[in-house]
Amino acid sequence: MPLTANRSTLTQFLIEERRRFPCASGDFNALILDVALACKGIARAVAFGELGGVMGNHAAAQGGSVNVQGETQKKLDVLSNDVFIRRTEWAGNLAGMASEEMDLPYQIPGQFPRGKYLLVFDPLDGSSNIDVNVSVGSIFSVLRAPQEVEDSGRDVTEADFLQPGASQVAAGYALYGPTTMLVLTVGDGVNGFTLDPNLGEFMLTHPKMQIPADTQEFAINASNSRFWEAPVKRYVDECLAGKTGPRAKDFNMRWIASMVAEAHRILMRGGVFLYPRDTKDASRPGRLRLLYEANPIGMLMEQAGGRASTGHQPMLGVKPGSLHQRIGLVFGSRSEVERIERYHAEPVKTEQTNPLFAERSLFRV
Ligand code: F6P
Repeated sequence: MPLTANRSTLTQFLIEERRRFPCASGDFNALILDVALACKGIARAVAFGELGGVMGNHAAAQGGSVNVQGETQKKLDVLSNDVFIRRTEWAGNLAGMASEEMDLPYQIPGQFPRGKYLLVFDPLDGSSNIDVNVSVGSIFSVLRAPQEVEDSGRDVTEADFLQPGASQVAAGYALYGPTTMLVLTVGDGVNGFTLDPNLGEFMLTHPKMQIPADTQEFAINASNSRFWEAPVKRYVDECLAGKTGPRAKDFNMRWIASMVAEAHRILMRGGVFLYPRDTKDASRPGRLRLLYEANPIGMLMEQAGGRASTGHQPMLGVKPGSLHQRIGLVFGSRSEVERIERYHAEPVKTEQTNPLFAERSLFRV
């Protein structure tokens, strides 16, 4: 029997946080609770798997559908997007929404009041893992709508969302793994909640999460190694060289291909994640999306004592250029991210001399 009686619920946690702001209206808490409910709904859909008839590609009979990124949408991508919208659009807390699965900003329908926040989300991150029963998650970011949008109640435009990550009011993710967890920052540290399946409540199980500054674990999709830029090659080389290399310690490597799951591992025990800018596709300056992947994860990392960066600059300082902008992303234990930034700032060495990139090595370029 789970021991939940002496733990705070998410609702209690939010109410206690709100006491720091006596003038707060309660809209923000209501929005977070609606997002949490959306995540519970998605967790149930994920848990039913094949039994729920939600596996596989969306509209497969019509040859599948693709999102604005040109990626094939899974049935669960579309369902999760819908769950986010339906759970949050009605309450009068939002001025508009944007999602990985929607080309344009979502307008709050006329029958509902409009509010002061913008919700930006990736409803199902890591969705290539759905059909193979590996952890997936949802990521969300809350921004304040520009004052003039709030005052006028006008439709939102793409420009309203193009705020640097440092302006986020809150960020978080839900992880649909062996247990369902909600990990949240409202700008005052990072707290982790585990879904009690008996009560249907998120219970505070991981208060004040902190990322160890140092680590011996890194995560990168090494199949892209031939496209990496020199600083990234250097960093990975040095990790792979282990005890006998310049770092003088052995490293472990992990790659789940669900960023939420990697972020969670890093929050729990440290590590560094890289999906850097590379030369694979000149039209894509990175793989992951700034507004609903890099920024919320970046805020969580920074709030837990870690760091998030493009490699060249702090992620949360980047001024977005478009809703679905991609960006190189490095996050995790502070000293490792700082090291990677240092390598980016140093002049590029012309010759790759490490034996790991020699003729017969695994990571030959
Ligand atoms: O869409 C984002 C994502 O699924 C991340 O969750 C994950 O880190 C990455 O893509 C996986 O990319 P790749 O297919 O290159 O391993």
